[in-house]
Amino acid sequence: AAVVEHTFVVTQVRMRHLCNDTLVTVVNGQFPGPALEATEGDTVVVHVVNESPHGITIHWHGVKQRLSCWADGAGMVTQCPIQPNTTFTYRFEVGDQVGTLWWHAHVSSLRATLHGIIIIRPKSGAYPFLKPDMDVPVIISEWWQRDLIKVDKNFSTGGNFDDNPAAAAINGKLGDLYNCSGIIEDNFVLDVEPGKTYLLRLVNAALFSEYYFKVAGHKLTVVGSDANYVRPYTTDVIAVGAGETIDVLMVADAPPCQYYMAALANQPPPPDPQIPVFASRALIQYTNISSNHAARHSCGKEPLMPDMPSQHDTITTVYFHGNLTGLPGHPLLPQIRGPVHEHLYLALGKGSMCTDRNKTSCKRGGNPESFEVAYINNVSFHLPEKTSLLEARYYGRTMNNSDHNWNSGVPVEDLPSKPPRAFNYTDNALIPVAGNVKLEELEPTRKATMTRRFRYNTTVEVVFQSTATMQSDSNPMHLHGHDFFVLAHGHGNYDARRDVKSYNLVDPPMKNTVQVPRLGWAAIRFVADNPGAWFMHCHFEFHIAMGMAAVFEVENGPTLEMSLPPPPLDLPKCTQHE
Ligand code: C2O
Repeated sequence: AAVVEHTFVVTQVRMRHLCNDTLVTVVNGQFPGPALEATEGDTVVVHVVNESPHGITIHWHGVKQRLSCWADGAGMVTQCPIQPNTTFTYRFEVGDQVGTLWWHAHVSSLRATLHGIIIIRPKSGAYPFLKPDMDVPVIISEWWQRDLIKVDKNFSTGGNFDDNPAAAAINGKLGDLYNCSGIIEDNFVLDVEPGKTYLLRLVNAALFSEYYFKVAGHKLTVVGSDANYVRPYTTDVIAVGAGETIDVLMVADAPPCQYYMAALANQPPPPDPQIPVFASRALIQYTNISSNHAARHSCGKEPLMPDMPSQHDTITTVYFHGNLTGLPGHPLLPQIRGPVHEHLYLALGKGSMCTDRNKTSCKRGGNPESFEVAYINNVSFHLPEKTSLLEARYYGRTMNNSDHNWNSGVPVEDLPSKPPRAFNYTDNALIPVAGNVKLEELEPTRKATMTRRFRYNTTVEVVFQSTATMQSDSNPMHLHGHDFFVLAHGHGNYDARRDVKSYNLVDPPMKNTVQVPRLGWAAIRFVADNPGAWFMHCHFEFHIAMGMAAVFEVENGPTLEMSLPPPPLDLPKCTQHE
């Protein structure tokens, strides 16, 4: 296995998009950032040189980080940020994963422009599908106008989001759908040759939305997701959740003309007056066309545009994700068939809290004394402030209510295994209507640093229950340090006795991000076999800031080969700490 070494210099640069010059934080002056290309089993070494004014961490989204939790890059969970004018070197192995992952900053909203693709190719050089002639990264992101750090702070203190991202980008280009007073922005252009096979590696790096993706005139065959193969299936529409990756094969077998590939954000259904359309498109053009091949076809004047689903269509994604199956025979399958050692039922929702923490009651819904938070089982996650959770744990800090010192008075609590009180989670009457949020049905919410501790090698089942307290569409729930099997999903409230029967224990897809359907649920299982502290959160950026997160801690196993080694010597110091 080889060593793949990179230096990431983080700086602020000016970029012009949406008719505006914006100061953005990027790696090596590029947006999106540099691609990291490796082969299964390689070691990756990335020297991060922080020349920006922000504290930075880089997370290797989906890399399992077996016994290398210190390199996971989750700000205040596994490390304190790399301070301005300092450096830190991430070292980890890509293990047995193959496919597409990505890296992104994991502090505040900086990942909006601090991100790039990770491509991991198979050691054998062989794919369980038609061998692609070329890899094509397709990174979807969102562009905004305001200072994202402020926007993020706004979220965590319950402010309003008054700066909707105004456009989507494909590979950093907003595309010609965004017309700024007569000036049309550039499209990303892909040249294809007739008959060749392209592996489109879709990454949804957007902060706020799931995307529908289509290519005019071409069928797409899904072959992988989250660096796991899936059983190939052919479709004309892809749904890619925030944080998710989807690998699709596209054969250039259409008449040699011009075609658009397009990405459109999937938004919740009305009523919501304020949601703009986020869409972007890129151009595919045929090159190397023999003259008699070309002569047989006449192309239209305009490139062909795919027919996109409605931006309020929340069903296509449920079908798309329901059609994903894994390849049979995964070595962990026997273990996840049972017994299950831990069952968690996690309700994802929105509630409100008093601005004054000491107050026990304050009126909800638009009262200036209360603000909105997002929660899991009625607890809104609060990141530690003075030291990272992993360090606190490694150095044996007590992490209970009585030790407030390292966490500025916010308690550390166990994630409850079920909501405090059952209610009809998916009742439409709970859907907030702009300006009139009805949360009376719910328990009050509190803030805590929530963790859940698992013994080494236990089998854990998590059922995520969406609730109507958010109008949001499918919540992309992401777990660090482990892949999980997605066993089932459904509409309405989960009912264990009924829904367990629908579990796919034969060939479930393995993922690191699961789309929990709007007003529905999803069930996953994983084996907690990687010691460390692993962030688990919704991949919508504002949901993290509002507290829809928790940390899964996995204890060391009985031998050294099952234990987390000590931290690297250059792990950033937590500056405010002691
Ligand atoms: Cu891509 Cu914790 O995230």
